[in-house]
Amino acid sequence: MLEELLQKLQAITADAKSALSAASTPADVEAVKNRTLGRNGAITALSPMMGKLPAEDKKAAGMAFNEAKQGIQAALNEASARINEKKAEEAPAVDVTLPGRAWPFGRKHPISQTIDACCSIFRRMGFIAVSGPELETVWYNFDALNAPANHPSRDPQDTFYLPDGRLLRTQTSPVQIRTMLGSKPPVRIVSPGRCYRRDTPDATHGVHFHQLEGLYIDKDVSLADLRSTILKFAKEYFGTDVKVRMRPHFFPFTEPSVECDFSCVMCGGKGCRVCKNSGWLEIMGAGMVNPAVLRNVGYDPEEVQGFAFGFGLERLTMLKHRINDLRIFSDNDLRFLKQF
Ligand code: DAH
Repeated sequence: MLEELLQKLQAITADAKSALSAASTPADVEAVKNRTLGRNGAITALSPMMGKLPAEDKKAAGMAFNEAKQGIQAALNEASARINEKKAEEAPAVDVTLPGRAWPFGRKHPISQTIDACCSIFRRMGFIAVSGPELETVWYNFDALNAPANHPSRDPQDTFYLPDGRLLRTQTSPVQIRTMLGSKPPVRIVSPGRCYRRDTPDATHGVHFHQLEGLYIDKDVSLADLRSTILKFAKEYFGTDVKVRMRPHFFPFTEPSVECDFSCVMCGGKGCRVCKNSGWLEIMGAGMVNPAVLRNVGYDPEEVQGFAFGFGLERLTMLKHRINDLRIFSDNDLRFLKQF
């Protein structure tokens, strides 16, 4: 019995050692460990034989067990150490003197930069920036702004309606209404944001675009205040040489209404392709807030009056940076965006 046990232990040990000398991965080592010393391993499987040995053989058997286990463990350790060392040799050397890799920084989108620049100019003139929802009701987007019931812009051909009758705002002007309903005069706000229209996209039109709305309501506000505010803005944004002119126009929410032109920032007013040789660029709509609009929000037109204006931020950005196609703003081409 003892003889048989000793032989088996020796055989297992020899087998394990030869397997380990050929092992090349940690998994190989682990496999040898499992099949010898593991819970279901060959050494463990021999333990019951101990109990069947005559008393005088037990000591020798115990020593043989220990010897086998220690021998296998030593071979396991040796094989692991050899494999680790080889791995370390094969790993590429780390050159600690190499400069680090710079993380690319994101930038603000040019339209966001224009919004920031405009808001900051108007903030210095006492206007605070507010925002309003892009999803609007017909009342805020048209009715309260005095748009005639049959105005073509209300048509589903021009405006995106939701099945529930709400719409994607076609202008930032509804923010005027929301602001006036929520506060008493004086009011002095600008409101930049996204607008939507069913236009066929081309170099100067998109189905979504950005506007900035301005509103100033107080006692004794006049068209002269509007003019000086716009002139100040024009000079701050484009430079001190810019001139502003106003032409009569029509908007339902203002009376009188004007269109504000800036002298061409490309040619300085001499005439070029961008201003179609007129020397002037149409930049914004504006006017004195229509008394009907003031009444719609519960203001008394005998007590207070004011001016409003609105302009497209894509156009402003294009003029500032000499960009000739606004589709590039939403292409998300990093080569373009990185230039700002
Ligand atoms: N809402 C006008 C548009 O989308 C722009 C505009 C014109 C806004 C005159 C105004 C204004 O506040 O007074 O074309």
